Amino acid sequence: AYVPIDTIIGVGSGSTVNLFIVELAKISHRIKAAVSSSDASTALLRQANIEVMTLNDAGMLSVYIDGADEITRHLAMIKGGGAALTREKIVAAASDKFICIADDSKLVGVLGKFPLPVEVIPMSRSYVARELVKLGGAPEWRMLDGKGVITDNGNWILDVHNLAIADPIGLESAINQIAGVVTNGLFARRGADILLLATSDGVKTLTRSP
Ligand code: A5P
Repeated sequence: AYVPIDTIIGVGSGSTVNLFIVELAKISHRIKAAVSSSDASTALLRQANIEVMTLNDAGMLSVYIDGADEITRHLAMIKGGGAALTREKIVAAASDKFICIADDSKLVGVLGKFPLPVEVIPMSRSYVARELVKLGGAPEWRMLDGKGVITDNGNWILDVHNLAIADPIGLESAINQIAGVVTNGLFARRGADILLLATSDGVKTLTRSP
């Protein structure tokens, strides 16, 4: 119902979005094309015979649909558990509406129990980590099989533990000011517009107050 007819839509990343892509495939004739926020989602969209365009060719998108690792009632989020945060933030910024799809395990009072992902240029990792400690966090270099996880953009991820984020917009801006940070997983300056929250009583719709 939230997929506008005959437009180009933005598609996020993660296990929830993977299920969305399965449903989108059934109504793919309704959209012109999709812009994807990760190589993994691009592969799934192509498998479903949905045309994937670059954001540069697509221009503004009607809607962006993505999951979250944590989300508040004000629809500020932590994202990036799948390391796709930078492209997600770009595609979300270029979309008229952000629809978040999540189950109620993701709804929190205060963001920060889920470690905050920060994408960094590799040479800045240790400097950025020291700056994050000054902001009160405990950064940990994300590893897989003994090696630093490499994002789709060729960078590394620091996961910042021990944050209780009282001011998501302020912290999002502060972290993005550290030299070497590509972006961080706080989506507060541009939060979601609508949250479709799966609960045991069905799907609840939460809307961001203006
Ligand atoms: C990917 O980097 C993330 O931002 C995902 O959107 C987020 O981690 C939600 O993923 P799941 O749907 O797998 O929980």
